[in-house]
Amino acid sequence: MKIDILTLFPGLFDSPFSESIIGKAQQRGLLKVQTHFLRDWAEGKHKITDDTPYGGGDGMVMKPEPIGRALDDLRVSSSGSPVLLMTPQGKQFRQEDAERLAGHDGLIFVCGRYEGFDERVRYLVDEEFSIGDYVLTGGEPAAMVMIDAIGRLLPGVLGCDTSAAGDSFSDGLLEYPQYTRPEDFRGWPVPDVLRSGNHAAIARWRRQEQLRRTYQRRPELLEAADLDAEDRRMLEFIRQEAGEEE
Ligand code: ADE
Repeated sequence: MKIDILTLFPGLFDSPFSESIIGKAQQRGLLKVQTHFLRDWAEGKHKITDDTPYGGGDGMVMKPEPIGRALDDLRVSSSGSPVLLMTPQGKQFRQEDAERLAGHDGLIFVCGRYEGFDERVRYLVDEEFSIGDYVLTGGEPAAMVMIDAIGRLLPGVLGCDTSAAGDSFSDGLLEYPQYTRPEDFRGWPVPDVLRSGNHAAIARWRRQEQLRRTYQRRPELLEAADLDAEDRRMLEFIRQEAGEEE
């Protein structure tokens, strides 16, 4: 996958994408991340990319022309790649978006400063994304988060192609609790079932704990999750247990 990032701060991306899993994916040619300096498309001696808002008010607004010219070029060099605008007003980025976007050959990320874009920039992009209900100093950390979540889903990027399948959210639920050695850590033991060697019992326990954890921490996820009759039976049991504890 080819990822283009339009930004005023290309240097911010050097370290996050040169190390660890995404760094290795780039070395192995599975992913190519290329930053583009927005100022290169600005005009005039001062190469200005923002300006004061019409109607008055604090702060500066990102001008539409440099972004427009940059996207004209990037849509040619990376044709077919959807253009994604990072903004706190965008749709909240979710795992299902990561899965869908991982299916493209390329993506173009547009990062701006926090005061915002001229409204007409919105007409130039395909989708707008927010990574959460808080305001960052710019879209760059949001693009990093999205690229990390998308990049790890690309074939061959994780050590084992099935390791993303059991992730939290991949089936609409949180992940089950995981344990490794030692068997007893400060008096907290590993659940017996995980050491039983009984694979059916382990699978059942994991599903039940996935449901329990989601019920306790993110109950709203259960409404959209794909649950079968056995899941519903387990959930009813978990609800009753919780009711009795109250
Ligand atoms: N730019 C500033 N805040 C943001 C957020 N929460 N998500 C995406 N882009 C942003």
